[in-house]
Amino acid sequence: MARYAHIVGWGKYLPERVLTNGELEKLVNTSDDWIQTRTGILQRHIADPKETTSALAVKAGRQALQVAGLSPRRLELIIVATISPDHIFPATACWVQDALGASHAVAFDLNAGCSGFVYALDVARHLIVAGAYKNVLVVGAEVMSRFLDWEDRSTCVLFGDGAGAVVLAASNAPGGVLACSLGADGSGGNMLLIPAGGSRLPANEETLARRQHFVKMNGREVYRFATHILPRSTREVLGKAGLELEDVELLIPHQANQRITLSAAKSLGFGEERVFSNVSRYGNTSAASIPIALCEAIEEGKVKPGDHIVLVGFGAGLTWGAALLQWSEVPLRAKPSPARRTLARLIYPWANLRSGLLRLYRRLDAIWCALVKRLAQLIGKAR
Ligand code: UT7
Repeated sequence: MARYAHIVGWGKYLPERVLTNGELEKLVNTSDDWIQTRTGILQRHIADPKETTSALAVKAGRQALQVAGLSPRRLELIIVATISPDHIFPATACWVQDALGASHAVAFDLNAGCSGFVYALDVARHLIVAGAYKNVLVVGAEVMSRFLDWEDRSTCVLFGDGAGAVVLAASNAPGGVLACSLGADGSGGNMLLIPAGGSRLPANEETLARRQHFVKMNGREVYRFATHILPRSTREVLGKAGLELEDVELLIPHQANQRITLSAAKSLGFGEERVFSNVSRYGNTSAASIPIALCEAIEEGKVKPGDHIVLVGFGAGLTWGAALLQWSEVPLRAKPSPARRTLARLIYPWANLRSGLLRLYRRLDAIWCALVKRLAQLIGKAR
């Protein structure tokens, strides 16, 4: 049985459309200056009307699988952390499983607010170490823009859309996800939520008129919670692994507000060079923010083999969580043969075709069953 879960692939996707603070000035009573000084955000990416959360997740997931050199058919589990799913059900992870053609994978969503990716990483790691699965895709994906009230300046300027993904693989080599520390306090559930559209307050004309299908937040309270929980959670996860703050090369916090990030860094005694930040370009992409940031940190060469990295998040629930990684050298893969490259190009068109054929089969099967039933009734009557 493998003792460790290593990150062997990573990917991200940001929709093309960029929405600047200047454009928001025309939508709501805000200013570029207010947004920049209070949050550090300069712009965010917004999904095209046809782009869904699963579509973003698939793009990030495909990249992660490519880096890992892994066929989707070898995935055994897909977890999508999201608070902006395609539907209440089925799980967004199931659409992702279908689009990737990951026909041997179990798939489910995980909702832990902006801490979702860290929660999902911990679940995946435990399942790998328990021997249940060897290759797992963990995705954080959000289309927050569909759930924002574009008349509410206190929320619409903060969030953005995007997706980040990692492939976790079982290994006996020490390293990978070394420890996680998670927490929740449901008494703070009303601090950040979408009030209507669930079983507590089903959709009706009144909820629509009151704009209760959009994100509502007590920003000041969430801010206070964040600045205290990020350092606490970081210390907790290091304590679990018997490491000190000095052992950490890079801290990747949930990207919600540059002031929150700087406050956490200050309280931990981290200089800016040891804290990753990209909130200025993407805003708060909720459960996608940590995997997007991790992916960029790798791409920018800020992560080296042997480094200890802490991912730390907080969000709706209220929830929080930190994951301690020891980065490992991803083994150099042999260059794929031309035949393999051709096969790889066919994977996703084949997944699409397979999905279409399965739908068609289900329809034909239903028609066939109805015909057989009708025939049996006619024979029964004739007798
Ligand atoms: O992933 C977790 C999700 N959420 C967060 O992480 C958010 C955490 N909270 C925050 O980041 C900050 O609390 C905010 C950025 C949301 C707000 O910053 P703040 O410094 O806490 O501002 P505030 O809520 O104390 O509001 C200050 C003023 C208010 O006006 P009054 O009441 O003092 O007259 C707001 O109405 O700023 C006003 N305001 C705005 N003004 C211009 C609020 N939003 C805006 C806006 N533009 N977009």
